[in-house]
Amino acid sequence: MNLKRHSQIVSAILVILVTSLGLAMADSSVFKVDRQFYPYYPSLIKWEKSKAEFTPPSTCKDCHEKQYKEWNGSVHSLAFRDPVYQGELNKAVKAVGHEISRQCEGCHSPAGVVTGEIKGPGNAGLSEMALAGVSCDICHSVSGVTHWQTPSHEPENGSFILSPGVNTQDGSKLIKRGPLKSDSDCGGGFHECVESDLHTQADLCASCHQVYHYDSHFPLESTYLEWKHGPYAQKNIHCQDCHMVETEVFKRTADTFEKPKRSEYRHYFNGANYLLSYLAAEAAKKAGDKEQADLLMKQYTMAVERLKAAADLEVTPVYFDGKISEIRIRVKNMRAGHNLPTSLTNVRQMWLEITAKDQNGKVVMSSGSVKPDGSLPDNVRLFNSDGMGDGLHFAIDPWAVTAFSRHETIPPKGYKDVFYGIPSPTSATSISVDVRLRYRQADQKVAEALLGAVPKDIDLEEIYGIKAVPQLPIVDMVTTNKVFTSSQR
Ligand code: HEC
Ligand code: HEC
Ligand code: HEC
Ligand code: HEC
Ligand code: HEC
Repeated sequence: MNLKRHSQIVSAILVILVTSLGLAMADSSVFKVDRQFYPYYPSLIKWEKSKAEFTPPSTCKDCHEKQYKEWNGSVHSLAFRDPVYQGELNKAVKAVGHEISRQCEGCHSPAGVVTGEIKGPGNAGLSEMALAGVSCDICHSVSGVTHWQTPSHEPENGSFILSPGVNTQDGSKLIKRGPLKSDSDCGGGFHECVESDLHTQADLCASCHQVYHYDSHFPLESTYLEWKHGPYAQKNIHCQDCHMVETEVFKRTADTFEKPKRSEYRHYFNGANYLLSYLAAEAAKKAGDKEQADLLMKQYTMAVERLKAAADLEVTPVYFDGKISEIRIRVKNMRAGHNLPTSLTNVRQMWLEITAKDQNGKVVMSSGSVKPDGSLPDNVRLFNSDGMGDGLHFAIDPWAVTAFSRHETIPPKGYKDVFYGIPSPTSATSISVDVRLRYRQADQKVAEALLGAVPKDIDLEEIYGIKAVPQLPIVDMVTTNKVFTSSQR
């Protein structure tokens, strides 16, 4: 066989190989799913079923009133009833079909998924356990995680194992896992205790705080991985050390990297979601439950305080040829253990508002002021992300977003610089700069669309007293003013 013929055969074989490989790839996805291992897919929960049933929080309250009062009113306690969640869930089921609701509920109300009680959006007819969302008996029944077996080989979509108890000769017994050394008295005869390292580590939170697209396994929310790849993880400061303590303790932890004392842990789990606490407080007031409204307003205040403690601003003038030409704003993530903002970055909004005036009070430059209709101007400097869907076009819903076209959040203990030009030549002798770092849960129109989509059994006017979605409250995380001379000699 001559050489030419030989190379023809080789290329023919190559062509066949490449095409068949191509076909094989089209057959299997990048992320293989073992549906026997994950029976609730697209939720990755596993349930070690026994005769031991889930226990609703009001029963735990009998002996753990302190933890109950802290948890009740937390975003975890509202995770399923949250009207913003219910609105989005309703939209998801209409857009993708019923299967997707298992994915959502696997994190927003895990017990309701494994018992099969939750059949779709809405609260009507559900048990206390299902309505309680991320409740006591979810976290304290977690016996392990399957982070390495998931399709993405990372924690995702509820990749934890629920084991509320085990079968025994005379029925069943309940086992609760926590941070304490267990002794025979532990559990007051109601449950046994097991000491669990997992409960003092971020891995407990990871399965729910890494949210992936239900099919493409794109990481929509990456709080855990942001933390894991940052300085707090290196120094053994976990989610619990900032989110399960009072505000003052959280600040100390973030500043010194010292772990809280065992007696300092609380069950507030407060983050940045002041809007949900506010809505729920309005509902409690309307229902005449003042005590609950107070607890919720405490959560509201803690979320606002946390946001105000998270960042810092540094304002520096930049001179060119002796004249002021730019203002540099450095936005620093001082105390968030993950990126700032985190989680639903394509919905949350954190932005800079800046106004520069000359010595006569005349505005020479401004950016980022909210428009009368509640929207942000085009020239705004936003720290968040934009999602894109399969067609690489803009997308916002969690079933549509399969990539980010823009992702600008600030890493833990890191910063981002923004430069604003000062028009030249300027007749100013001095420039006074007002800067605000501002935050809100969502764009006004996005919030209106979500609350507009709640299932019929949730009457916003009757429960929350809302006729129309009010202008979303904005939190000023940092406010500062600096005055600079306009020329430098
Ligand atoms: C892996 C767990 C997980 C899955 C799966 C999940 N979520 Fe969430 N969801 C979260 C967490 C954690 C937050 C809070 C993040 C934050 O505050 O930024 C959240 C927040 C939300 C919010 C914002 C609530 C508010 O009050 O601002 C909405 C809406 C929401 N989820 C809807 C959904 C829908 C719909 C699905 C299914 C398509 C879904 N989620 C699937 C964990 C999950
Ligand atoms: C989101 C998960 C989560 C939920 C929900 C939750 N806990 Fe905990 N709980 C924890 C973690 C994590 C710890 C350990 C904190 C630490 O390091 O001390 C803990 C600790 C405890 C302890 C040990 C003592 C203490 O306070 O540190 C008790 C008792 C307890 N929880 C009871 C409850 C009860 C009762 C509820 C419901 C009202 C509840 N938990 C809800 C995660 C949770
Ligand atoms: C009859 C009383 C009683 C009830 C009801 C009860 N517990 Fe406990 N539990 C105790 C006692 C007593 C301890 C010992 C430590 C303490 O006093 O906090 C304990 C300890 C714990 C611990 C710490 C375990 C460890 O090793 O760190 C957790 C977690 C816990 N309980 C969770 C729960 C949850 C969740 C519920 C509801 C499903 C619940 N308990 C219901 C009495 C009770
Ligand atoms: C079973 C799933 C699950 C587990 C486990 C879990 N979370 Fe969450 N968490 C959620 C969901 C869902 C939400 C959002 C609920 C909503 O906004 O409607 C949430 C909200 C939060 C928030 C409030 C966010 C905000 O916007 O204010 C904080 C803080 C938080 N979780 C911290 C933790 C920590 C710390 C742990 C581990 C100790 C943990 N979570 C474990 C599901 C979970
Ligand atoms: C060093 C302290 C610190 C640690 C550690 C930390 N956080 Fe946070 N977290 C913050 C601060 C400050 C905020 C408020 C600013 C923001 O939204 O990022 C926050 C906000 C959040 C929010 C609300 C985001 C939103 O959009 O409403 C969630 C959810 C959250 N954290 C979860 C976690 C989880 C899960 C971990 C562990 C993997 C963790 N945090 C570790 C300080 C911390």
